[in-house]
Amino acid sequence: MQGPSGTEGRGQGFRKAILVNEHYVVHGVPAIAVPVFFPVEVRVMVGRGAGLGVSVRTATGEDARDAEDADRVEAVRRIMKAIGLSETEKNVRIQCSEDLSGWGGLGSSAGFCVALARALCRALDHPCTDEEINRVAYEGEKVFAANPSGIDNTVATYGRPLWFVRGGTPPWEWIRIDPSPLWLVIGNSGMPSRTRVEVERVARFSEARPGLFAELVRDATRLGQDARLALEGGDGKGLGALMNQGHSMLQRVGVSNERLDEMVAFCRQQGALGAKLTGGGGGGCMLALVDDGSSGEAMVSGLEQLGYRAICVPLADKGDQP
Ligand code: MEV
Repeated sequence: MQGPSGTEGRGQGFRKAILVNEHYVVHGVPAIAVPVFFPVEVRVMVGRGAGLGVSVRTATGEDARDAEDADRVEAVRRIMKAIGLSETEKNVRIQCSEDLSGWGGLGSSAGFCVALARALCRALDHPCTDEEINRVAYEGEKVFAANPSGIDNTVATYGRPLWFVRGGTPPWEWIRIDPSPLWLVIGNSGMPSRTRVEVERVARFSEARPGLFAELVRDATRLGQDARLALEGGDGKGLGALMNQGHSMLQRVGVSNERLDEMVAFCRQQGALGAKLTGGGGGGCMLALVDDGSSGEAMVSGLEQLGYRAICVPLADKGDQP
């Protein structure tokens, strides 16, 4: 849209929850992710002149303050470069709907990269396929995740449940989740999840203990395959047990912490089918699988009483099927 100060574009990117095998997916193990339907939103204005400004809209939406995180600004630069847009030739103002740290572990950074790529393409009237958006967003994700597998930007782009194998041909397949009676409780540790730091931690673990890591990779591969069968077969109990096992395997490589473990233990005591950290860990969020919405809501209240923010969302396939 052409306005007095330039051409405007808006975009959205989905958040996600990884059901099994975050981190292991970086090392070629299959992982499963589902979209979480509260997207990240970005608005851009491309005008005459040179310069780049990145800001975050306040909760009231009245004022915007400068985005302070250097990572986000660097991701913006890489995404602009991948799209072929130069900040020395165009004046680009970028406004995000929020801080990215609020719900760490749910793919906010990938959601941001996708939202930005879409907004820029719209502002430039540059037709872009989802495939291109995904490719461009991956360039931005490299800033946040060091060595990203590509799972986060793929879910953020397509908004569908998927089975993802890094290096696979193709790297992902859609997973069909028939109308599911399952729900996810997402508990927020209140601590940031720095994916890059945690991915590097796991890389150091794999170098320090190659034998053990190879065993964990083998177990995680089997776990991913079993989890897919359980999910597609509507076996919530089986999937929950595999999520519990997945959490132990993430603890082994050092990416959980006391707050995540406390929420996981609480949800299991309250009858969750399974519970685990989700995403990069080290902070961020935890995921519990429940088989009805009302017990999910009760779990949310319990987590809030312990001092955590929490939400309950359906594990539903809302995206179009190919
Ligand atoms: C982060 O959401 C998921 C990780 O496996 C990193 C990646 O796959 O790029 C930790």
